[in-house]
Amino acid sequence: MVVLILLQGVTLPLSIYLSKLAIESVGTGGSILTLTALWALSIGINILVEPLTSLLAGAINEKLTAHVAMMLMRKADEFPDLSPFEDPAFYNEVQLLGRQATHRPLNTVTTSLYFSRDLVSVLGVLSLLGTLAWWLPLLLLSFTYPHVLRSMKLQEMSWNTLVGSQADSRAMDYFRTQMLSEAPAKEVRLFGLGAFFMSRYRNTFERLHSQMNRDRRRQAIQPVLTAMLSLLGNVSAFVWVVRESQTGRLGAGDLLVLVQALFQLQLRLSGLTTHVSLLSGHLKFFESLKGFMGRTPTVRSGPRGADFGRIEFRNVSFRYPDGREALQDVSFVIEPGAKIALVGENGAGKSTLIKLLCRFYDPTEGQILINGTDLRELALDQWRGFISAVFQDFGKYYLTVRENLALGNLELAGNDEELLEAARRSGFLDVVDRLPRGLDAMLGKPFGGTELSGGQWQKLAITRAYIRPAKLLILDEPTAALDPRAEYELYQQFTHLAQDKTVVLVTHRLASVQMADQILVLQRGRLIEQGSHPELMRQMGEYAKLYRMQAEQYKLEGVMQIDS
Ligand SMILES: Nc1ncnc2c1ncn2[C@@H]1O[C@H](COP(=O)(O)OP(=O)(O)O)[C@@H](O)[C@H]1O
Ligand SMILES: [Mg+2]
Repeated sequence: MVVLILLQGVTLPLSIYLSKLAIESVGTGGSILTLTALWALSIGINILVEPLTSLLAGAINEKLTAHVAMMLMRKADEFPDLSPFEDPAFYNEVQLLGRQATHRPLNTVTTSLYFSRDLVSVLGVLSLLGTLAWWLPLLLLSFTYPHVLRSMKLQEMSWNTLVGSQADSRAMDYFRTQMLSEAPAKEVRLFGLGAFFMSRYRNTFERLHSQMNRDRRRQAIQPVLTAMLSLLGNVSAFVWVVRESQTGRLGAGDLLVLVQALFQLQLRLSGLTTHVSLLSGHLKFFESLKGFMGRTPTVRSGPRGADFGRIEFRNVSFRYPDGREALQDVSFVIEPGAKIALVGENGAGKSTLIKLLCRFYDPTEGQILINGTDLRELALDQWRGFISAVFQDFGKYYLTVRENLALGNLELAGNDEELLEAARRSGFLDVVDRLPRGLDAMLGKPFGGTELSGGQWQKLAITRAYIRPAKLLILDEPTAALDPRAEYELYQQFTHLAQDKTVVLVTHRLASVQMADQILVLQRGRLIEQGSHPELMRQMGEYAKLYRMQAEQYKLEGVMQIDS
């Protein structure tokens, strides 16, 4: 293939040379047969190359696109922390690279090939010209050089525009998704948001479009001057050639060669320029890809083997990457097997504390110690292997029930007994029993599956957490769908089922966690009280106050009888 394309490059100077020979043979009566054969061959190559190229291009393109997508996913997976997902630049890059990956890599290959082909042609034609006057090639090249430079510059600029427009094009994607996907569909309809999102989409599009148009105009107009200069070089050479033949210094064959050569040269030089400048644009893509692949995580696995054990937060403070302070000087100890409750109002820092425990972030100050060793020192995979959790925003995967459960422990995917036993313990079995295909029922409407209610999804998430063999179980208020009594019962049951495990329960409903060995009370990022329920009630502090307030509320609502 490569050989064919390069051969294609040779055919141009060859055919010019052949026509010269043909003309000269008229005088000498030489053999026309070889000439004709060579000429046919050079055209034959051209006929072969085109369909072959497009055939290969399609196949290679798909593969390269998937390959780059895999590279991006693998890179994202390399990050053990959450910081990339909080960084808009990360999304911009992912989207830009993902989109460009559909054509840039292949275009780079084909452009390089065409570039080489044109280079071969141009060099061939130039050397033909060089045989007549050594300075001809130099003249032609120097007149074309500014055009090449200008075109390269423009390609780089248009790449920069592309990079700069990512925020807008992502916003367009976002607005479109609001109209075309399931989750926002209810609010869009009830609140009549269609026109709103569409106008946001259109406005963003128009801004982007006019920016792109400006860019295109610049691309079209700016190179005209330099192209003229290149043409001027060619015209001068042409004038010289005609003069020379008029004075009789060049024969008819030479004249023909030169006229053809100059004409073709102009075409091929502009092809060459286009390819060089396109290559410089492609280069930008690869630079960006390389930059992305070179990103290094700030959270890195430590060298030491991890053992599960005593967890200590020692003067831990934490600020999110955007500067928001979420925890301040928090210290406490969790003994192995303890049942801990983390309570506090919305925004107190409960989920943040859980994220630090999972090492999705490192503390900005202070330390988290596991059996006295800093968590940062420990092998992260091993540490995470000890933890199972139901996060506040747990995953609802559009997969089968079986797969949804087995995500907690992929080895159990084929083990119906274990899956169903875990489902029984979490109360999810009833749901499975009523699904048309049981464990193999597909979930989620977008793929033709069954939709679950909020509470059912939640039980599914809890079952998944059970299935994972862990030493530390975390339940971070996945209870939005539950009333206070159901949450209370769930937490009781959870603690009971996890007898030999360390458990951390998170809630803002104080009644749910009376049974905890130790209750940690967070308020605006600070740990203000800690102790068992009776101890905290005796202290008559913030916990006792809030507890009484909530108990009063529950009594009024008739939700539960609580003795305090
Ligand atoms: N990813 C984030 N980036 C910046 N600030 C955050 C982020 N997540 C939470 N916060 C802020 O940190 C504080 C604590 O949040 P969080 O730990 O989620 O509270 P809780 O779980 O107790 O309701 C809040 O003020 C919240 O706005
Ligand atoms: Mg939370």
